[in-house]
Formats: sequence, C-alpha cells, structure tokens
Amino acid sequence: MNVYDSARMADVLKPLGYRPTETPADADMVILNTCHIRDRAAEKVFSELGRLRVIKQARAAEGRATVLAVAGCVAQAEGAEILARAPYVDIVLGPQTYHRLPEMVARAARAGGAVIETDFPVEQKFDFLPDATGPQLPGGVTAFLTVQEGCDKFCSFCVVPYTRGAEASRPAASVIAEARRMVAGGVREISLLGQNVNAYHGAGSGGGADESSWSLARLMRALAEIPGLVRIRYTTSHPRDMGEDLIAAHRDLPALMPFLHLPVQSGSDRMLNAMNRGHTADDYRRLIERLRTARPDLAFSSDFIVGHPGETDADFAASMALIRDIGFAQAYSFKYSSRPGTPAAGAPMPVAGPVGDERLQQLQALVRVQQDQFNASSVGQTMEVLFTGHGRKPGQLSGRSPYLQAVHAAGPDQLIGTTAMVKIEQMLTNSLTASLLSPVPTRPIPTRANPLLERACA
Ligand code: 5AD
Ligand code: SF4
Repeated sequence: MNVYDSARMADVLKPLGYRPTETPADADMVILNTCHIRDRAAEKVFSELGRLRVIKQARAAEGRATVLAVAGCVAQAEGAEILARAPYVDIVLGPQTYHRLPEMVARAARAGGAVIETDFPVEQKFDFLPDATGPQLPGGVTAFLTVQEGCDKFCSFCVVPYTRGAEASRPAASVIAEARRMVAGGVREISLLGQNVNAYHGAGSGGGADESSWSLARLMRALAEIPGLVRIRYTTSHPRDMGEDLIAAHRDLPALMPFLHLPVQSGSDRMLNAMNRGHTADDYRRLIERLRTARPDLAFSSDFIVGHPGETDADFAASMALIRDIGFAQAYSFKYSSRPGTPAAGAPMPVAGPVGDERLQQLQALVRVQQDQFNASSVGQTMEVLFTGHGRKPGQLSGRSPYLQAVHAAGPDQLIGTTAMVKIEQMLTNSLTASLLSPVPTRPIPTRANPLLERACA
C-alpha cells in the first residue's frame, strides 16, 4: 500500500512542478513513506533520516533548499517524536492527509518551523487526490489499487487501527474508473489493496440498483468485465470476512487468480483468543476446505506471529500443526514486536527473545519445505504466465505464474504485457524456468463493451 500511496503523492505533487529524481541528492523534496507495523521498520526511519540530514546540509551549502517530509504510519504514530529527534524535518503527514500535501509544501516554504498533519480529516482523501492514471511503474503491466483502508478488528498486537484509522471503503464507481484508466495505460493485472480488503463495502454509483453497498465479490465481478484486464488479485484478507459470495467469486471468475493470502497468525485457539482474532484454528481449517471445494487449484499464503505474550510451547506446536494440515505455498512469519499503545504491549507473560527466535526459525524452516514442495510440484505443469518485462539474460522474458511465482522463459518482446501458456521446466532458488508453448497470447485483449460497467461508471 505504501508503493501505491507513494505514486499518489507523486500524482498530487505533479501540478506543482515536482517529478521523481533518481537520487535524493538531486531532489528538492524527499518524502520518506514509512511503516510502523513492527519496531524494526520504524527504527529504519530514524537511520534513514540521519543520512538525509547530511544530504540536506550538503545541498544547503550549495544554496539549494531541500524539503524533507515524513509520511505514513510512523509519521502518524510518532509525529512529535520525529520532530524532537530530527528537527530538520519540514513536514510530517499521516496516511490520511496526502491530498493536503501541496498546501503543506506551501506552508513549509512560508513558515520557519515544521508543518505537522496527523489528524483523520472528515473528507476522504480519495475524493481530493487527482485521478491515478496508470501503473505505479512506467510501462508497468501490474499495478496496485487501494479500495479499502484502515481496520476495525483491533487485533491485540496491531497498530493499523490506530495509524490508518477506522475501516473505510472507496465507492465502487471510483475504483472501477481508476481500474479502467490503469488498463488503458497498459496494466493487465490489478491487485486490489486494503488492510482488511475483504471487508470492502463500497457505495454504488448512486443511481438505481447501484445504490446498495458493493461487496468485494461484486466489485471483482464488475472489474473482471473490463476489456484488457486479465488478472485480479486482492490482499490482505481476514478469515472472518471471507463471505459466501467471495468464495463463489473464486469459483466463477477465471480472472481471479487462484492464490489467496489469508493471514491466520496462530494455530492455537488460546492465542487466537488472546489476539482478539474472532476465529478458531478449526474455523480457519474449515474455511480453507470451503475455498478448496470452490476452486480446487487454489493455493494459500498466510501470516504468522510467534512469541505473542503468553505463547507456550504447546501454543507454538499448534501453529506448526496447522501449517502441516493446510500446506502453504508460501507464508510470512514474524517474531512478535511490541507496539506502543496496543493491548498486547502491556500483556503479562512476555516470551523471551531467544525463545521467539528459536520458534521463528522452526516455523520458517517448515514453511520453506512446503514452499519448495509447492514450487517443485509446478515443474512439468502447463500454466499461463503474464509476462511483465525482460529477464536478466538476453532474449529472456520474466513474468508471474497464477501463483505469483517468478517465471523466466525465452521469448519475443511482443509477449510483454500479455499472457501465454508455458511448460515449467525447472525450479531455481527463487524462480522457475519455463518454455513457451503458445507463441501468441493465449488471452488476446478483448474489445467487448460491457453495458453493466458503463452504468457503474456513469
Ligand atoms: N509484531 C509482529 N508481527 C506483526 N504483524 C502485525 N503487527 C505485528 C507485531 N506487533 C504482522 C501480522 C500481520 C502482518 C502484516 O504483520 O502477521 O498480518
Ligand atoms: Fe491489524 Fe490485520 Fe488485525 Fe486489522 S485484521 S488489526 S490490520 S492484523
């Protein structure tokens, strides 16, 4: 989401004459877009600021001013501390205030002191940001699109509800219009983003039947009709919001990729309860079964936390058991990191650091085995790849499988931006090699107009 947000900040600054530079030394303004999810991410900000201070001073010696801004969730949570520790910062802005950036830049130029904006404005930033026009990377074939932000789940360990704010969805018409612009700009795969994306409940376009709230499934059904959009993904989901219609979307929509990131955090009911997750390990197992019934080739990824306060050896063993039961194609795992202001930060029975390290190692080793098994099972298979660019070797293309695996194959440049069938030949450490089966795109760009969509975007 920070990648998407950074592109939107560039959009909002363009009318002021700003454009991206290659290095901070060339920049009249530097924005650090920050993450507060774990302690280590937040600490990076201060070491990065130290480096930027040196650049700012060197430029000042040459008579060039540098506006230094800190955006994102560290700015939201630690705005005052940033200004105390790094008084050379000019602007501190939280994630819900990016649309006010031009005004802040003007104020920073006028004022001697720093400008700080970390409230949650009543207006929605998406109503005020200029239209996003294409992929986040020039010539990009894949793009992110934020449809929902914030979270009301209040998991014990998590800062998101405090830094991104309450759960809010963008109207369906605005999302569809943005997706159409992206596709017109060459995008073929869109990943819908939200901290709690499957809680999406966007307003319709305000006319007739569209007035009712749109679920994520309904939104994706409309997006799947956009000519030229061949792949849709969404992340990140909460097990509690995996509704029947979303499961049915996995059954019905070929454009919806068969790879789902569904964080479970722990396999122990005791821990899931302490984490305020609102589901049990068996609820999760049953949900995976229902999804697999709807779409048998669906592969799963998840997030795990080890060492949450109170986690015993037995709780950890339950997480390992759940991983063995499900069989993940991939998973992210983290050692619990205490975040100020969250309920778990003051919880009794903290887990000792080395115990957490040991558990993390064990869990990651198991996930690695499963991931290797999953990738090895791809060898010999025929699958569709979306080619996104060149590989490192001459004549080589790189792309992604439906399961987000990196795939390399020899092929002509005109395949970039299209999907083609390949046979997977070999598994390397972080990618697969393949040979082309069809020299022409398997899914040419359709031109069919869609009356439903025209209405949704009216
Ligand atoms: N400590 C460790 N991991 C965390 N996550 C969120 N908050 C914390 C924390 N305090 C992890 C969760 C979440 C992912 C984005 O980051 O697993 O799903
Ligand atoms: Fe954080 Fe996700 Fe829990 Fe929301 S559902 S509080 S974003 S971990």
